[in-house]
Amino acid sequence: MKARIVTLPGDGVGPEVTAAAVAVLNTVAARYEHAFTFDEQLIGGAAIDACGEPLPAASLAACQAADAVLLGAVGGPKWSDPNAPVRPEQGLLALRAALGVYANLRPLQVHPALAGLSPLKNERLRNVDVLFVRELTGGTYFGAKTRSADAATDECRYTVAEIERVVRRAFELARDRRRHVTSVDKANVLETSRLWRSTVQRIAADYPDVKVEHQLVDSMAMLLLTRPNSYDVVVTENLFGDILTDEAAALAGSLGLLPSASLGPSASPTLRTGSMGLYEPIHGSAPDIAGQGVANPIGAILSAALLLRHSLGLEAEATAVESAVEQVLRYGPHSRDIGGQAGTDEVRDAVLDAVGAHADTAAAFFCGARACG
Ligand code: NAD
Ligand code: IPM
Ligand code: MN
Repeated sequence: MKARIVTLPGDGVGPEVTAAAVAVLNTVAARYEHAFTFDEQLIGGAAIDACGEPLPAASLAACQAADAVLLGAVGGPKWSDPNAPVRPEQGLLALRAALGVYANLRPLQVHPALAGLSPLKNERLRNVDVLFVRELTGGTYFGAKTRSADAATDECRYTVAEIERVVRRAFELARDRRRHVTSVDKANVLETSRLWRSTVQRIAADYPDVKVEHQLVDSMAMLLLTRPNSYDVVVTENLFGDILTDEAAALAGSLGLLPSASLGPSASPTLRTGSMGLYEPIHGSAPDIAGQGVANPIGAILSAALLLRHSLGLEAEATAVESAVEQVLRYGPHSRDIGGQAGTDEVRDAVLDAVGAHADTAAAFFCGARACG
């Protein structure tokens, strides 16, 4: 298969982890005989420094013409003056809006080898397997903003259509999992949350095979820590999803482990399968460790696996990458954030080796099956 992938390394550890993810995609391409081309573009602080804006027109145009986009991270102290006229994060938000990727999938699993790193008791972490579906292109992030010398506002606005499309996506995803949707809101206080909840209630009638529950966001923050294994698909609005998923990352052992896929409705311009998507680890630019070669690349590598699955329709290749990561988490090497000593490149190389080994096993199995048949 041919695929055009735009990379947006961004700032801080973004370039370090993106390079590792690209190396994995190159190995997959070589092993499975695909032709992936990579087009690196500017975003975030790097783009502000180069041309004064966080999402240059050329970057956006490249993303819109691509089959998928792989992003590292944006932001950092250099561009974080609260009075700055332009911020790196605006580039990412503009990109998500322009690509229309309203559904942000953030899967969480706790690897048994890392359970000891979590602040929670091990028994609470058994069988944790949650898919967060975060609304990504609406709410407070995109409402009208005002700022005067002595006051500021951020409007939170949701339309029924915006809520409905992401909630339907969550129900569809639940049908391929354990058929349980938890909708998180603040319906006891916020009007947008009451619209959210009544929309979920209406849509739930179309999915009688899926169990639905509603949870207020404040108690959900607590329940995620006390009984994380009782959730399957968790759907929520933009800001709540941002906060809950960083909290959830602590269960897995590190923010550096979690991937994400941001999906829209549109089909990719050149591929018949899959949909256009933006793929990024959920962590930020990690300025405290940037440039040291110690960032954990696994969130970025697992994001590349989601790219293979959701945009390119390459399920076997996605599974091969995930199995490789599973093996590296089980046997090491581990980066510093998960208790090891390995640098980014060492973890990357271990994943590359395991992807190669997995492909060899799959090929042998396939040949064998043909010989038998
Ligand atoms: P952060 O996610 O960058 O870092 C939080 C902590 O997690 C730090 O201690 C960091 O070292 C650690 N960490 C994060 N990723 C890691 C990795 N791959 N390996 C090892 N450790 C890792 O959050 P922050 O410090 O609050 O934000 C820094 C900047 O990143 C801000 O400008 C923020 O806006 C931006 N940010 C960008 C994105 C994105 O581009 N998608 C996401 C979140 C934050
Ligand atoms: C994330 C980040 C972004 C968000 C920022 C950098 C705009 O925290 O992807 O989780 O809040 O969505
Ligand atoms: Mn975040």
